[in-house]
Amino acid sequence: MTMPRVSLQVSTTGTVFQSSIELSQLAYGVWRLDADVKGSDPGRIGEKIDACLELGITTFDHADIYGGYACEALFGAVLKERPELRDRMEIVTKCDICLIDPARPGHQVKHYDTSAGHLAESVERSLLNLNTDRLDLLLLHRPDPLMHADETAEALTALHRDGKVMAFGVSNFTPAQTDLLRMRLDLPIVANQIELSPLHLDGFSDGTLDHCQQHGIQPMAWSPFAGGDLFTGEAGDRVRRVLQSLAVKFESTVDAVALAWLLRHPTKPIPILGTNRIERIRSATACFDVDFSRQDWFAVYEAALGHEVA
Ligand SMILES: NC(=O)c1ccc[n+]([C@@H]2O[C@H](COP(=O)([O-])OP(=O)(O)OC[C@H]3O[C@@H](n4cnc5c(N)ncnc54)[C@H](OP(=O)(O)O)[C@@H]3O)[C@@H](O)[C@H]2O)c1
Repeated sequence: MTMPRVSLQVSTTGTVFQSSIELSQLAYGVWRLDADVKGSDPGRIGEKIDACLELGITTFDHADIYGGYACEALFGAVLKERPELRDRMEIVTKCDICLIDPARPGHQVKHYDTSAGHLAESVERSLLNLNTDRLDLLLLHRPDPLMHADETAEALTALHRDGKVMAFGVSNFTPAQTDLLRMRLDLPIVANQIELSPLHLDGFSDGTLDHCQQHGIQPMAWSPFAGGDLFTGEAGDRVRRVLQSLAVKFESTVDAVALAWLLRHPTKPIPILGTNRIERIRSATACFDVDFSRQDWFAVYEAALGHEVA
C-alpha cells in the first residue's frame, strides 16, 4: 500500500500559492502523546514517528497547548536528537487558545487570542519547542470572537514572509468565519480541521464540507474515532454494529472501515489518528483497501443519524 498524498497547492484570485505543501492522506496527532502508558521519552516517541514514516504517514498534528503546553517540546526533543527526521515530515501546529496553566501564569481566564502579538509569540515558542526553523502549516485553533481580521491577516502574512510558516489554515471555523479571514488574507486558507466521525456528523450537513469543496480547502478530521467512543462507548453501539458487518463484508477491520467511510466524502478529509499504539497506527492504513459504495456509506450515515434520510 502506498500512502496517498494530498497537495495543498491552492489557486486564489488567479495566482498560485508559491509555498504549496503536500500532506499524507492520514495524519498522526500528538494530543495524547503525554498519556502513552509506555512513556513519552524521546525513544518511545521516536518509535511512533518511525512507524508513521515507514507507513507513509508524514504529517504530524500538534497544538501549542497539547499536554499543558508540553507535547511540542516532547516531540521536539526527538528532532533535536535526530534532526534528519525533520525533512521527512510535515509539522502542523495550532495557536490562539490560551489555557489557564502553570506554564502561562498570566492567563486568569481561558480565552482565545488572534492578536498580532500573540500569534508572533506563539509561533516563536512552537518553533523553539519543536526544534525546527519552520512550520509547514499553522492553524488558528478556535474562532476568536474578538478576531480583527485585518490585524490577524497581517500577522500571518508577516510569519509567511519571514519564512517561519509555509501555509495557513483554520480549525473549528464555520464557513462565514473562514470567509472573513480568506477575504482579508492574500495567502490561501488551505485547511479547516474539524471534528468529524460517525459520532460527529455536523460537518456533513452544516455547510462546512460544502465550503471546503467549493474553495479547495482541505478538511482534516480530528477525533476520527470520536476519541475511542466509536469502539467502546454506548453512543457508538448502533454505528459499531453496522461498521462490524461492513468489516466482515470488506474482509477488513472496524477502524479501517470507519476511516474509509470518512475518506469516501469527495473532499477526502485527512483523518488524524490519536492512538498511542503502533499496531493500531498500522491497522488504520488498511482503510485504503476499502471501497465504499454509496449505499454502504448511507447505511453508516443512517445508523449514525438514528433514522433514514428524509
Ligand atoms: N483541532 C482541534 O480542535 C482538535 C481537537 C481534538 C483533537 N485534535 C487532533 O486530533 C487528533 C486525534 O484525536 P483523538 O486522539 O481524539 O483521535 P481518535 O483516534 O478519535 O481517538 C484516539 C483514542 O481512541 C482510542 N482508540 C483508537 N483506536 C482504538 C481501537 N481500535 N479500540 C479502542 N480504542 C481505540 C485511543 O486509545 P489507544 O491510544 O489505547 O489506542 C485513544 O484514546 C489529536 O491528536 C489532535 O492532533 C484536534
